[in-house]
Amino acid sequence: MEAPSASPDRGAWGTRLGFILAAVGSAVGLGNMWRFSYVAAEGGGAAFVLLYLVFVALIGLPVMTSELVVGRMTQVSPVKAVRQLGGSRWAPLGWLFVFCGFGILSYYSVIAGWTMRFAFDALRGAIPQDTATYFNEVGTNMPAVITHVLFMAITVIIVLRGVKKGLERTALILMPMLFVLLVGLAIWATTLSGGGAGYAYYLKPRLSELLDTAIITDAAGQAFFSLSLGMGALMTYASYLKNKTNLGREAVTIAATDFGVAFIAGLVVFPIIFHFGLGEAIGLGGVLNTDNTVGTLFITIPPALQSLGSGGNIIVAAFFIMLFFAALTSAISLLEVVVAAIIDSWQWPRARAAVTFGILITLAGIPSAYNLNILTFADKLVGTFLLMVGGLCTAILVGYRALPQVEQELSIGMENANLRRVWSTMVKFVVPPVLFVVLFFAVKPLWVAFKALIGG
Ligand code: PHE
Repeated sequence: MEAPSASPDRGAWGTRLGFILAAVGSAVGLGNMWRFSYVAAEGGGAAFVLLYLVFVALIGLPVMTSELVVGRMTQVSPVKAVRQLGGSRWAPLGWLFVFCGFGILSYYSVIAGWTMRFAFDALRGAIPQDTATYFNEVGTNMPAVITHVLFMAITVIIVLRGVKKGLERTALILMPMLFVLLVGLAIWATTLSGGGAGYAYYLKPRLSELLDTAIITDAAGQAFFSLSLGMGALMTYASYLKNKTNLGREAVTIAATDFGVAFIAGLVVFPIIFHFGLGEAIGLGGVLNTDNTVGTLFITIPPALQSLGSGGNIIVAAFFIMLFFAALTSAISLLEVVVAAIIDSWQWPRARAAVTFGILITLAGIPSAYNLNILTFADKLVGTFLLMVGGLCTAILVGYRALPQVEQELSIGMENANLRRVWSTMVKFVVPPVLFVVLFFAVKPLWVAFKALIGG
């Protein structure tokens, strides 16, 4: 085992609340706001939501707890942490995490750039009625590159400032604002006439759709993406923890908040879509199933709200500002995984790591800004498939190579031996087989998406 080397440019959280809000900030992101709504709608409404919850409990919580414990135990970046646990043969897993952070951020930032653009234009009252055309104009090509670069610059500046002054302070400011905006919008949405059909569409279980294996992989993949699992993000965050709190409880807090936000976001989106008749007029399946589902929210929400008059623009702006906050606190964690690995493994100063890799990620994202099919494919490959691979490997490493040490660390703060036994049983016997099956089902859609990409 290597001795944990404390690089001077690492850092530590100032407070427990700061850590929790930063971790929740990582989890709550674009995944909660648009991905959850539309996969839930496609996947059988409330039936999907239940299936999703099952995955969160069975897979999400054990993997999240493992990541948190390994991070706090090793106090180093995931690249070194997995090596400490499993020997140098496991080093590729750490670099897979870094690759995922790099890859996800490259296209995530393009979408986040759209949220900035739409928020800004809504404030100026400059979003035209025909948002589909408008989205194609500002959501791709040069305008999208510009907002992508801007968003990356903001992300780099925050990461550059370090754990306490950058990551923690941003979460402490933005997360409470995000919660207020979200709850405000949800309450406002209840006043919309005709919203009942939207709630029904979202919340009425359609059990038959659950038999589709694509829906099962969607639910599992969504759980990984939304909870920021499978790429060492929470492991990295936990490596800055000094206190000895109960990490099982922290995992429940993070996962529950993430689910709550996703659920409430659905309560905002569906009444709006149905109030304005978009659900029936265009057929929700049709709207949400277009080639670029990624643009759905940007195309449907603004015209709906604008018909409310000038107040509508304020609500459009509030909506996209909320999305922007959510995206930013997630993007920070994606970049931090890369930066922490470089600081620890190559002994670079933080500023150099953040700027260099910020630029590389920005460049890597440009193809996604030009071609939404690339963006969608990257999301399927890295944002879904590789995260589950990462989660599977993490469970095997923790469950079969390092269980005694990891359980020992978990016991600090979690005295209840029965709970720890539940956790270790899940990590060993539930997570690997379930993920194995899910990954098996996930290969075909990935292959189809790949062929579609190279075919056109
Ligand atoms: N959880 C974030 C979201 O829901 C995305 C993310 C994935 C962030 C993986 C970090 C790591 O948008």
